[in-house]
Amino acid sequence: MIQKKMAYIITYGCQMNKYDSDVISRILKTNGYNLTDDEECASFILINTCSIRKHAEDKVLSKLGELVCRKKNDKDLRIVVCGCMAQRLGNKLVHRFPEIDFVLGTSMIAELPNILNENEESSLSTTFIKGKKVYTEESSCIYPVTSIHEKGLKSFVAVILGCDNYCSYCIVPYVRGKPRSREKIEIIREIELLVKAGRKEITLLGQNILAYGRDINESFDGLLRDIHSIDGLMRIRFLTSHPRDITKDLIELFPELPKICEHFHLPVQSGSDHVLRLMGRGYTVEHYKQIIKEIRKKYPCPSITTDLIAGFPGETENDFNDTIELIKEIGFDTAFCFKYSPREGTPACKFQDQLPEEEKNRRLKELLDVQKAISLQINQAMVGTIQEVLLDEKNPKKAAPLAEAVSLTWAAPSVDESSLLGRTRGDKVVIVPAKNHRVGDIGIVRVVEANNWSLRGVFVNE
Ligand code: SAH
Ligand code: SF4
Ligand code: F3S
Repeated sequence: MIQKKMAYIITYGCQMNKYDSDVISRILKTNGYNLTDDEECASFILINTCSIRKHAEDKVLSKLGELVCRKKNDKDLRIVVCGCMAQRLGNKLVHRFPEIDFVLGTSMIAELPNILNENEESSLSTTFIKGKKVYTEESSCIYPVTSIHEKGLKSFVAVILGCDNYCSYCIVPYVRGKPRSREKIEIIREIELLVKAGRKEITLLGQNILAYGRDINESFDGLLRDIHSIDGLMRIRFLTSHPRDITKDLIELFPELPKICEHFHLPVQSGSDHVLRLMGRGYTVEHYKQIIKEIRKKYPCPSITTDLIAGFPGETENDFNDTIELIKEIGFDTAFCFKYSPREGTPACKFQDQLPEEEKNRRLKELLDVQKAISLQINQAMVGTIQEVLLDEKNPKKAAPLAEAVSLTWAAPSVDESSLLGRTRGDKVVIVPAKNHRVGDIGIVRVVEANNWSLRGVFVNE
């Protein structure tokens, strides 16, 4: 039986989108909707989309095709599209899929209650035809701080929206607008609410988080200090730091603020200065290596992760080999590797020397293979070490598929009651025996086994 006002959210893309979906789900709850984890019984389906690569958009288009078919037999179904693809395509989406009820751009989340009310005036049983359907205006988009309904130990919190770095390959500045920092007081209020609702770990988000505060006369260091003093909060992480903007002062702040986990996600993208110049990244390989040196001088075992693009236009075999050499030299804990995807409207899309698909695939595979071996080596070197682990879920017997689409309320198909999953300060997955421990505990664990994506540990003193 289909119930009215049962909402289901499908999220594609990055952590920022996941955060947006969290905020949207809170807004929907406050406005009389119930969230369900069963798509079939939802009467309101919201797709939060991503435009970063063609593949991400293709997945959304195929999901939309499926929903439009369902709507033919189920006229009450409401389909809403939001996120980066909604912002990028706006009206074009509605032309292609007239069954969409409305399109909400990335700056319009705070407007959602008004838009829902406006739409509510039209009948739930008909497609909304009168009035406006596409809401993609530029706005300062201050996220509303609402009450927290959902349970959990960890949450994302956006602190700065947008980006104006205009890396030559990237669609984000066009779909997320210029950088806008949220007021510190609002961020603090939101984190306090999250901690009250049970959160122990917060990951602060920004496309370039180190730009936080430049537009409002605040500083990222100052924000970290204030967040650090929130009682009950145990761990702080932040994403993403642009290698050009990371400073010695920030690196040295970590020991002073021990809740900040020593995990540095620093996307290098390429190990060749020639390619970095074409990408417009604003740093050299030497500069990048210098930062890593500073970090390792300060901490014995930091976790260092990165993003890499394989097959950028103009990337020669030598350039690519330089990337392979760099990842071997640095020894990243993990690298998120992507095949270059031309995005319409970005400069790189028009660059000469676009590489053939097979060559991009070959380079991507080589990157993945080399990185897999490095991750295994690094994890195996952790065997015998002592780690602080936050236990955050029961161990699903069948590991969850690493799909890019994550439903908000994903439930494991079957659960192994005898072990728990946790994360180290470096964000590595650790499997531990459940015995006397529960989800939410922080335990001290000795690592006894490792593969390339997880560790197995036992509690010390047990
Ligand atoms: N703001 C972050 C990255 C956001 S996008 C930063 O600057 O580091 C996440 C990752 O997607 C990027 O780091 C990059 O590796 C990858 N990416 C972005 N645009 C891409 C494209 N057109 N093709 C392939 N990968 C891309
Ligand atoms: Fe994209 Fe570059 Fe901005 Fe990151 S810093 S979001 S890669 S333009
Ligand atoms: Fe994120 Fe994709 Fe948008 S990576 S910012 S959801 S284009």
